[in-house]
Amino acid sequence: MEYRPLGSTGLQVSIAGLGTGGPAQLGQKAGLSAQESQRLVRVALDLGINIFDSSPAYGKSEELLGAGLQGVPRDRFIVATKFQPHEGNALKQDPQALMAQLEESLRRLRLETIDVLQYHGVAPEEYRTVIDRFHPVALRAQEQGKVRFLGITETVANDPQHEMLNVALAEGIHDTCMVHYGILNQQAEHKVFPLARQHNVGIFVMAPVRTSLRTPDEAVRRMNEFIDKGWLDIPRPSINDPLGLGRIGKATTDVTRIAYLFAAVPQEVSTVLIGTGNIDHLRKNVRDISGPKLSPEEIAFLRQTYGHLAWDA
Ligand SMILES: NC(=O)c1ccc[n+]([C@@H]2O[C@H](COP(=O)([O-])OP(=O)(O)OC[C@H]3O[C@@H](n4cnc5c(N)ncnc54)[C@H](OP(=O)(O)O)[C@@H]3O)[C@@H](O)[C@H]2O)c1
Repeated sequence: MEYRPLGSTGLQVSIAGLGTGGPAQLGQKAGLSAQESQRLVRVALDLGINIFDSSPAYGKSEELLGAGLQGVPRDRFIVATKFQPHEGNALKQDPQALMAQLEESLRRLRLETIDVLQYHGVAPEEYRTVIDRFHPVALRAQEQGKVRFLGITETVANDPQHEMLNVALAEGIHDTCMVHYGILNQQAEHKVFPLARQHNVGIFVMAPVRTSLRTPDEAVRRMNEFIDKGWLDIPRPSINDPLGLGRIGKATTDVTRIAYLFAAVPQEVSTVLIGTGNIDHLRKNVRDISGPKLSPEEIAFLRQTYGHLAWDA
């Protein structure tokens, strides 16, 4: 497993991280028992994963993660969770909501300190209010030792050009950010990574596979959808070569391998979050991301073919 610096935090994080949200939520969506979800956490640790991302918004994920990490030496893992600033469609009014939610997260995670507390899913038009309202309280929580570092995550949908992070990173107040980046949305290379480099902000990548690249079938459907919309001007993909890599002699049906490896290419990326409730998938993904890298030809092909897209789901 490769380990990379998380911005200026001094932490070294595994290039594969375990995300406990998304369509899998540690297996909650697939009906895994609590014991099975906790086993997933242990297997992740055994595979060399040392960074875990959660949120109070992910069902029982914080609780399951906390139970899975119980008894593990504290210096073997890094936990990032989130403050959910939303109440329905509106923002919470009371700044102290952050402290109250953080206390709940600490209890559910069975921790004395959270390594990274992130503002969860902040839309561009909300950013200023979120920071003005909640950041003083987050800084107080940091002074009190309840949290070590502060970060921010964008919405996975509705901000494909990363407008929020563009403003946020320029402020220089965030230790980390979480960005939607992958084959089907490469915009962060221009809109986020240069700023992150300039301000030494650690980057979590989210959702490089999500609901588009889990299987060859799904990938073909997505490509056909983009061709029909006029977004892609490429030959119709085949089930034996969903990404069209056969055009450079590299046809493969293993779309998840290509997707996770691609997300790990930029050196600005600290960790690529894998969301899964399936131990076999977890083992495979870690093997893939630790295995042979994409060749310069494959990277160039994926950039040339899909680099203009800004898919936001
Ligand atoms: N705004 C935010 O803050 C925000 C938004 C989105 C995500 N996140 C974080 O980012 C993490 C990653 O995002 P994500 O969960 O959407 O990411 P993802 O890893 O791109 O996609 C997860 C999906 O891929 C499937 N999958 C994983 N490995 C597979 C494999 N080898 N073969 C087939 N299917 C596979 C999973 O199903 P299986 O269970 O079947 O493996 C799941 O449905 C989340 O868990 C969460 O922690 C944060």
